[in-house]
Amino acid sequence: MTTASAPGKIILFGEHAVVYGRPAIAVPVREVIATAEVTDITYTAPGEIHIEAPDIKLDMWLHELIQDHPLARIIHLTLDEIDPKTFPPLRLRITSTIPISSGLGSGTAVSIAVVRALSTHLGQPLPLLRQSALAFEVEKIHHGTPSGIDNTVVIYDQPIYFVQGDEPEILHSKTPFTLVIGDTGRTSPTAVAVSQVRLAWQENTPKYEATFEAIGQIASQARRCIMEDRVQELGPLMNQNQTLLEDIGVSSPELGVLIDAALASGASGAKLSGAGLGGNMIAMVDPDDADQVEIALREAGAVRTLRTEVST
Ligand code: PMV
Repeated sequence: MTTASAPGKIILFGEHAVVYGRPAIAVPVREVIATAEVTDITYTAPGEIHIEAPDIKLDMWLHELIQDHPLARIIHLTLDEIDPKTFPPLRLRITSTIPISSGLGSGTAVSIAVVRALSTHLGQPLPLLRQSALAFEVEKIHHGTPSGIDNTVVIYDQPIYFVQGDEPEILHSKTPFTLVIGDTGRTSPTAVAVSQVRLAWQENTPKYEATFEAIGQIASQARRCIMEDRVQELGPLMNQNQTLLEDIGVSSPELGVLIDAALASGASGAKLSGAGLGGNMIAMVDPDDADQVEIALREAGAVRTLRTEVST
């Protein structure tokens, strides 16, 4: 049996604007992971793959899945890449503690865990950049115009400063900082938020470009704060980023309630993370205040909370 996993992620600054060429910062969240397990089976013909993904109640043979199902796509991409002449029948079991469609990178982590487990099991583990490229192809199913930040941060497994088309920069923070993550419980497919923003951008390009530019400047200010060890300035920058995300229409009442609760209970900044319209929010907290912020978030309706320490 071969097992592989990949972490979740959050976007600290710059979601949406990153799709339009502006910088963004993303951080892996190792407290949640997707895991893929590949086992040889004997009861069917070579080349058959049985897929079990209990979290999405999927129990099927690969050939029964539609071609552009994300799991079928990542398996076919992996097999095309390593091109095994023949292989024994396999069982692929996928489990994940990353909430689905919630901005924590569940789809990407599943893709990368599958590439890793399958290619390793078949004796040809793929290099990180190939894993990333294959996961990026699948992102295109989730929404047509992915920036590539999700697959990149999962592969680097470090906080990154990311601009589409550039080599990502790993951000080293002298002083670790703590984030509390709160889940609204409302799932929100990335494609919906991204296409809503795309339509609005087409209708009012100057306004949206100006907002994306302002978001990008916040992300580059945040990069300097992390590098120059001024992490106490990140909270206020998160609040500014949230205001601009509200301006482009991707916040939601549920996110607003959790963000207010986090700020009222001691967080120095809070914002939605990922595509928005639901999903998760993040709050910058002093480690001593993390418990009270988590309690406040749950009282305000978060279906779950977790905390992560960002350090490199
Ligand atoms: O997949 P999500 O919900 O974490 O959102 C990704 C961030 C976006 O900027 C909205 C999309 C992208 O491709 O960068």
